[in-house]
Amino acid sequence: MRTDIVILAAGQGSRMKSKLPKILHRIAGKSMLEHVISAACNSQSQYEKGKIHVVVGHGADKVRDQLSHHDVNWVQQNEQLGTGHAVKQALPGLTGADAVLVVYGDVPLINPSTLTLLTEACHGEHLALLTANMPDPSGYGRIVRDNMGHIQAIVEQKDATPEQLAIHEVNTGIMAIPGSCIKDWLNSLSNENAQQEYYLTDTVAMAVAEGITVVHAQPAKLTEVQGVNSRLQLSELERQYQAQQAEAFMTAGTTILDPQRIDFRGNIQIGQDVVLDVNVVLEGDVVLGDNVTIEPGCIIRNSRIASGAVIKAHSILEEAVVSSDCEVGPFARLRPGTELANNARVGNFVEIKKSQIGQGSKVNHLTYIGDAEVGTGVNIGAGTVTCNYDGANKHKTIVSDGAFIGTNSSLVAPVTIGKGATAAAGSVITRDLADEELGVARGRQRNISGWKRPVKKTN
Ligand code: UD1
Ligand code: CA
Repeated sequence: MRTDIVILAAGQGSRMKSKLPKILHRIAGKSMLEHVISAACNSQSQYEKGKIHVVVGHGADKVRDQLSHHDVNWVQQNEQLGTGHAVKQALPGLTGADAVLVVYGDVPLINPSTLTLLTEACHGEHLALLTANMPDPSGYGRIVRDNMGHIQAIVEQKDATPEQLAIHEVNTGIMAIPGSCIKDWLNSLSNENAQQEYYLTDTVAMAVAEGITVVHAQPAKLTEVQGVNSRLQLSELERQYQAQQAEAFMTAGTTILDPQRIDFRGNIQIGQDVVLDVNVVLEGDVVLGDNVTIEPGCIIRNSRIASGAVIKAHSILEEAVVSSDCEVGPFARLRPGTELANNARVGNFVEIKKSQIGQGSKVNHLTYIGDAEVGTGVNIGAGTVTCNYDGANKHKTIVSDGAFIGTNSSLVAPVTIGKGATAAAGSVITRDLADEELGVARGRQRNISGWKRPVKKTN
């Protein structure tokens, strides 16, 4: 059974009041359309994957550009003449599908298992509708059933009678259509209705007239079928999605001090007994080992942090690797290419870029380390700066095992500090230091006795 999936994403979304096409707005750092494409992919059985077609219209170029890495068939709908018209544009690509599943690009939290359930209910022979019982059904198409409870039709809000408006079972818009019927049905749609649109929902009455059973399935959660039309709804879904993720992590053994003040934006893996304090943002591909602690206000982006490490408050990590039992922060910034070996310490107001810091080494205060290799057991004093950039090129600093860099030193790269060597406080080190050497490179102190300070003028 091959099921093709058509994602409707051509609408303008005027209520977003945005230059960005609606479906490119993000939930948890990922565009709504991307959420739907992943759900669509994950709903398909590994063996008989059908094609995924995305119908685009408003801002089509931007949408295609941003999602060009996805293997989907882009379908253009130049004028938005209704959901039926939209699916019809995809017909040329649908030949040979046993079933066609229609989903919306602006309903981002749909669960793959719900889509699988609906596809199975269709099974290539029934028309399967995903319906939901909404406390407030206004705006939705209503599911009209006969006395026996069989689905007869979907009636849009604007075409509904007062009795129909009282129905709480609504059309979520997601449906699975037998491949053998779809072409005839879409070609017979008319736009004689209140909105002068070609309604996909009119296929229901067609199925009934042809004696094709109309079945239904329902989502596990209502958030799955909630659409986004405004920025307020976007923010509401964002919070609900975050709450669901926080719950899933807590269930799997993570301590989250306040699940309402945490954000997971990406592909996050968390070990056991990790503690996440308030206002932590985890973004992109993040891996946290067992017993990691992240203190308040940290941003961790595309980074790996191994077991037992502590990231203290207000630290920012990007493309960094932190090994076991390290301590970072508070107020530290680890930029791309930073690698800390086991037990390293990075303290407050320290910035590190594209550098390795060896096991047990300490960079504790007010320091910039860039393009450096720092060995094991090194102590880097407060206010140390690697002068890695000459205005044109970047150069490397090597600080060997056991070296000691005195406070307020500048290491002018390229430069190598030998094993166990010492740079005296306040030195500007421009020449290599051999193993065990002391480098002193600063102005000599002169003391002048009886020195009179200037006095303030009086006029
Ligand atoms: C549709 C359903 C309604 C259902 C509701 C659920 C129809 C006729 N009505 O109504 O029964 O309760 O969804 O939200 O199907 N789109 C296109 N091209 C078009 C028109 C729409 O791509 O020409 C896309 C939109 O971008 C959107 C989706 O289809 O993602 C639904 O369109 P929308 O206009 O929101 O449909 P509703 O009127 O809400
Ligand atoms: Ca809608």
